[in-house]
Amino acid sequence: MKTDAPNPNAIVWFQDRYVRLGEANVNILTHALNYGTGVFEGIRGYYEPAGQEMFLVRMPEHYERWKRNCSILRIHIPLSPPELSEITAELCRRNSFRSNVYVRPIAYKSSARIGVATDENDAYALIALPFGHYFETKRGIRAGVVSWRRVEDNAIPGRAKICGAYVNSVLAGDEARLNGHDEAIFLTESGHVAEGSTCNLFMVRNHQLITPPGTDNILEGITRASVMELARRELKLDVVERSIDRSELYICDEIFFTGTAVEVTPVTEVDHRPVGTGETGPITKSLGALYADATRGRMPAYRNWLWPVYSSAIIEKTA
Ligand SMILES: Cc1ncc(COP(=O)(O)O)c(C=O)c1O
Repeated sequence: MKTDAPNPNAIVWFQDRYVRLGEANVNILTHALNYGTGVFEGIRGYYEPAGQEMFLVRMPEHYERWKRNCSILRIHIPLSPPELSEITAELCRRNSFRSNVYVRPIAYKSSARIGVATDENDAYALIALPFGHYFETKRGIRAGVVSWRRVEDNAIPGRAKICGAYVNSVLAGDEARLNGHDEAIFLTESGHVAEGSTCNLFMVRNHQLITPPGTDNILEGITRASVMELARRELKLDVVERSIDRSELYICDEIFFTGTAVEVTPVTEVDHRPVGTGETGPITKSLGALYADATRGRMPAYRNWLWPVYSSAIIEKTA
């Protein structure tokens, strides 16, 4: 299946100014294209037609993570998370988005030459595009453990969203889909459950919510942190970060994935075995609903997770 090219007239932030996507191009010799030396992020914006407002979710946290992770590859981004957030909100306004969006910040080693050694030439861009659901989040999906192992921290740090490391995710996702699943489950080299190819994994056993720790080669997801907070504060659940054995996936009550793109996605089948009853479990359902409410501005206690796009322009103008 081939996908359509994005709208070339969409406005993006590239080389320190707003330009059309069709003009935001890089040289074929760009270091990041040849060697994978980029670090990206993914941020969602939810449009609420009733209030004609869009909320960008946990945007400064995403930019903080991005900047910290860029330092692993020694890529420098000159702007602060609040400055990057302001530009992103303006990007959404300039595109007049009236639908959900996905924001893709990408920073990269930008020298156009042959040679693996890096230098000080860094660049970054911010792109926002309309975006729907990644998976069928209501019905649940089928997941399968793949033969590819999750990249080890001492090979390519998986916590950093490094472009080159996503070859690992591509191989895993392809294998899972060719084997009749919707998403992959990675094990670590030591055989413990790490995460999906693009998302974190949670399991429910005996009313406890369990997820692998940051040291099991996972991407330390912002949605993962949000769901853990909702589980503790709203459902009073015991939330535990510990290594998970593969066979626990077969005997647990519920499994779900979390991520900016996948949101809270129930897993109803794992390695061709039903998870629990084979239907979306009650804790998964509650957390999915809470996450949807919190990210759409329907829970005042979590309004600090949201950056409003359209009303913030009014505030800026009147300030
Ligand atoms: C490998 C991987 N794990 C987990 C996640 C979820 O992270 P977050 O919730 O911060 O989007 C992602 C997101 O892109 C990912 O690529």
